[in-house]
Amino acid sequence: MTPQPRKRVGVLISGRGSNMAALIAATMDPAYPAEIVAVVSNVASAKGLETAERHGIATIVIAHRDYESRAAHDDAVHAALKGVGAEYVALAGYMRLLSPHFVRKWQGRMINIHPALLPSFKGLDTHARALAAGVRIHGCTVHFVTEGMDEGPVIAQGAVRVLPEDTEETLSARVLKVEHRLYPMALRLVCEGQARMSDGRAVIDHKGADDAEYLLSPPEGG
Ligand code: GRF
Repeated sequence: MTPQPRKRVGVLISGRGSNMAALIAATMDPAYPAEIVAVVSNVASAKGLETAERHGIATIVIAHRDYESRAAHDDAVHAALKGVGAEYVALAGYMRLLSPHFVRKWQGRMINIHPALLPSFKGLDTHARALAAGVRIHGCTVHFVTEGMDEGPVIAQGAVRVLPEDTEETLSARVLKVEHRLYPMALRLVCEGQARMSDGRAVIDHKGADDAEYLLSPPEGG
């Protein structure tokens, strides 16, 4: 079979960029179905920009403060993504609400990683809220981005046990390890067409279904 051309992915970040780094690492494998064509940040000091540059990936800063409205900023981000020929968008710690107009343009081709098992704990401070709620299982979710924040159809989820001695720091570190495995896997499913959005739901092919459930493994500490 002739190999398919790799899908061109733009990554949006605002900070540390560890999920972005996990995506970059995955794309080092020539068999991975995606390449990262640019990393776009709304924050000039985002640490992740340095990481991307070290890997020779184009970086673009589009500071939201330079735009008079959210829509105008999103239009500039959209133009930058189009400018580098992005076909898909991966949000990786992008701390901006997106305007409906922008979301509609990328619907079905834009994904996000959220540090909780959606639909529980949408929004910020997910680990502290999971601890306060006393849940026994916590984790992360990759989902298609829709207009409602953290509401899009779920592509893949990874779970960790919540341990009695957990603090926000230990729990978030354990979830983050799972994020770094889950996100590249979910982007692969999307870029291979094994996960797609249809009628507002995520449809996962049988072949990709097991990958999309990352259950309590590796065992904690792993
Ligand atoms: C991650 O926890 C991710 O789930 C959330 O924001 C955080 C970003 O971390 N959306 P990083 O910038 O990828 O290190």
